[in-house]
Amino acid sequence: MNNLQTPDTLKTFLAEQEQKTLLRFLTCGSVDDGKSTLIGRLLYDTKLIYEDQLAALESDSRKWGTVGEEIDFALLVDGLEAEREQGITIDVAYRFFSTSKRKFIVADTPGHVQYTRNMATGASTADLAIVLVDARNGILTQTKRHTFIASLLGIRHIVVAINKIDLVDYDQNAFERITEEFKAFSAELGFDTITPIPLSARFGDNVTELSPHMGWYDGPTLLGHLETVDFESDHSSAPFRFPVQYVVRPNLDFRGFAGTVAAGSVAVGDSIVVAKSGKSSKVSRIVTMDGDLQNAVEGQAVTIVLDDEVEVSRGNMLVAPEERPHVADQFAANLVWFSEDPMIPGRQYILRTETDSVSASITALRHRIDVNSFAHEAATCLDMNEVGYCHLSTQAPLAFDAYADNRATGAFVLIDRVTNATVGAGMITHPLRRASNVHWQALDVDKKSRSEQKGQKPAVLWFTGLSGSGKSTIANLLEKRLLAEGRHSYILDGDNVRHGLNRDLGFTEEDRVENIRRVGEVARLMVDAGLLTLVSFISPFRAERQLARDMVEDGEFFEIFVDTPFEECAKRDPKGLYAKALRGEIKNFTGVDSPYEVPENPDIHLKTLGKSAEELLDELIEALKQKGALS
Ligand code: ADX
Repeated sequence: MNNLQTPDTLKTFLAEQEQKTLLRFLTCGSVDDGKSTLIGRLLYDTKLIYEDQLAALESDSRKWGTVGEEIDFALLVDGLEAEREQGITIDVAYRFFSTSKRKFIVADTPGHVQYTRNMATGASTADLAIVLVDARNGILTQTKRHTFIASLLGIRHIVVAINKIDLVDYDQNAFERITEEFKAFSAELGFDTITPIPLSARFGDNVTELSPHMGWYDGPTLLGHLETVDFESDHSSAPFRFPVQYVVRPNLDFRGFAGTVAAGSVAVGDSIVVAKSGKSSKVSRIVTMDGDLQNAVEGQAVTIVLDDEVEVSRGNMLVAPEERPHVADQFAANLVWFSEDPMIPGRQYILRTETDSVSASITALRHRIDVNSFAHEAATCLDMNEVGYCHLSTQAPLAFDAYADNRATGAFVLIDRVTNATVGAGMITHPLRRASNVHWQALDVDKKSRSEQKGQKPAVLWFTGLSGSGKSTIANLLEKRLLAEGRHSYILDGDNVRHGLNRDLGFTEEDRVENIRRVGEVARLMVDAGLLTLVSFISPFRAERQLARDMVEDGEFFEIFVDTPFEECAKRDPKGLYAKALRGEIKNFTGVDSPYEVPENPDIHLKTLGKSAEELLDELIEALKQKGALS
């Protein structure tokens, strides 16, 4: 900028811009309800307003001899930049626009099958949702689903945009019928305001101008409502939350914690507590690129320096001492599922909060929620776009708030361990306490003493492969050899374990996940007993083989891929099962109508074709010695 004096009109304009509130909203509804037309119409109409102002400003500026537009431009794109910095990468475009009364960010979520995912992304920071309804079709399942998700995501204000009203002759009855129906189904969702507006996005009726065709309507225009709706809750009273993004340590003299204030405020001299450890300290500095601050409030990105050397790492939280978040490794949450692969209890996912990342699984799907009636239904898994209420367990404790108290610190996403795709989004309701009277009993005789007594290093030798691939045959031969050499071992075999411990399990994906989880736990106990534990299960899914690996210590788990092609297994067909499966008499048969996920990086890869069982045994023993599993 040059240093000419800023004229008063420009100053006023800029001051107004700065003070204007920012409303974030999103549009949702069925694909054909006219979402894009409505956003286009809003942007177009308001841009005119803005350009008018700019024109006025321009002439003012010319008169006063300064350059005004550049500054305004910067002001206007600020919001959008902030969004980008949040690293939102999913298919959601954020559009910024502004009127003389307010600034707006609209999350423009494309309406394809992945809509729920995009909506959840767009809605997680939104204050208001415009639910579009086609006046001709009324309320549809999609309308209810999106409204429900909006409520789950903490949106408190709804506009029911009853669109294409021109196509029903501006009929007041149609408007009222839809309004009634909407209010009836959404009554229990707890919205603060529901504002129905009859409009035609195409012709602009009631969008920014009141329609001349609907004398019976005495409510606001859509823009009028967006400009005036009272959406701001009192953020200043929320307890201080500062999730630590990373530790800044450029040299030995400086150690600070970088992040964005997620709630409340903090000032130099304030006492804080490190959420997970409960250690307390005091804020000695609040550092930014533009120098130190005395205090910082919600939304500000800062680096906090503490008085002493308390231990804080990424994913932990600095919080107000008197109002702490929950710290737990088990909690209940509402979960929206995005992925085409169903959510399966027992499977391991990566759970990510704003700054933390930890391995997690759904321990129980308590119920699925029907999006039409909001009734709770019994279910064993969640399919794409379904919503359920679950219990989750994480491998390490998380610091969090209930989503209802804080949308930033109460939300998480689940990531598939193999594909790295975001498969679900969760809103935590409350922590679950482990039965506090059950502790891991420390026993005097431990794994080390047991294995020393046996003179061996315990391990899990995990055989995976198709049915009939030869897993059990090879495991059997190996055990005979081990016995002959005086080693202590045990075989857990799929067919046998399914007669007892896992008698209740079949071959659906859910049941197989649970099958492997249980066997993994048993194998862990056997390793603790000092045994060489041979596990012979198809174990078709990578995620569960990984889970079993994670249950024991590093270096104790050896994945042995018994690699026999499907055609060969089907030809051998020792139990006649392939023939039945291919005739359709057995369902979910591995390799036929249930997948086998080939190990990408097995510790030992036995290619069986053209080799005898004894040759394979020798190859295996050699490899086990090389890997240090056997001495
Ligand atoms: S796993 O997939 O859950 O690991 P597991 O190893 O316990 O399977 O059991 C596989 C054995 O069950 C097979 O060797 C076969 O004898 C028998 N079986 C019966 N039905 C099926 C099926 N639908 N798919 C695979 N195996 C089946």
